[in-house]
Amino acid sequence: MTGNGSASARWRELLEARAIPPEIRAAAPDNPYRHEPRRFAAPEQPPDTPSRRAGVALLGDGGTTLDVGCGAGAASLSLLPAATHLTGVDHAEDMLAAFGAECDRRGAGHRTVHGAWPQVAPEAGGADVVVCHHVGYNTPEIGPFVAALHEAARRGVVVELTAEHPTAWLDPLWSRFHGLDRPPAATYQDAVAVMQEVGLRPDVEHWDRPPRDDVRAQAGLACRRLCLPADRLDEVAAAIAELPPRRGGIVTLHWKTR
Ligand SMILES: C[S@@+](CC[C@H](N)C(=O)[O-])C[C@H]1O[C@@H](n2cnc3c(N)ncnc32)[C@H](O)[C@@H]1O
Repeated sequence: MTGNGSASARWRELLEARAIPPEIRAAAPDNPYRHEPRRFAAPEQPPDTPSRRAGVALLGDGGTTLDVGCGAGAASLSLLPAATHLTGVDHAEDMLAAFGAECDRRGAGHRTVHGAWPQVAPEAGGADVVVCHHVGYNTPEIGPFVAALHEAARRGVVVELTAEHPTAWLDPLWSRFHGLDRPPAATYQDAVAVMQEVGLRPDVEHWDRPPRDDVRAQAGLACRRLCLPADRLDEVAAAIAELPPRRGGIVTLHWKTR
């Protein structure tokens, strides 16, 4: 690490160090960073997680919700009916379309804002509760990002993250298929250190969520992330089957704003 010693600089460097080397990226058959809306579909019956409990507690008798990096809406849709109106922010149009369609299907009042947080914060406006699930590790400048979540929330904020960078489990496969040693993965503790640096003191709850995909689906995702063609799928699936079981550690970070 060559940073200036701040938690924000350390976070940025940890993320930038894990960028895919340009020569491997250039030869990739598909965009290794692409997210598919169907992988993020909101479950019909939301699981009773610490994130959902924290959101419902902040909403109390009811209130509006802003979902930043909403994807297909799993975070905010899990708060219905306590959430009386949902605003979804995402920079991916296909994700926003999936969010809007699911809100329509469930009869939830909603609005979408297309663009990158925190740049679109003025357009998104405030809400009683702000939720942001599984976005932090995409965000090199996480200090202004979380400060804007805080500013937008009248009652409180709920952030959900994997305990370590969500691609850390692929590190042994980078070594096996590309001969590449990956640098250390950022963890939630690095994110909490940045939050503390901008004056936030989140409550931290730990829990586990097993991987949502079977080995074959994990192999499809791994091929894309590893910049390998789909005809390596069987080989990658066999390599995944040899990995130690994944812990699936998740953290919920939540705080009141007023
Ligand atoms: C891993 S998905 C999580 C989606 C959803 N929150 C969930 O938990 O199912 C991350 C989402 O955040 C969006 N995203 C990432 N960085 C963003 C930013 N700075 N502003 C707006 N959207 C962002 C991506 O397009 C993607 O839809």
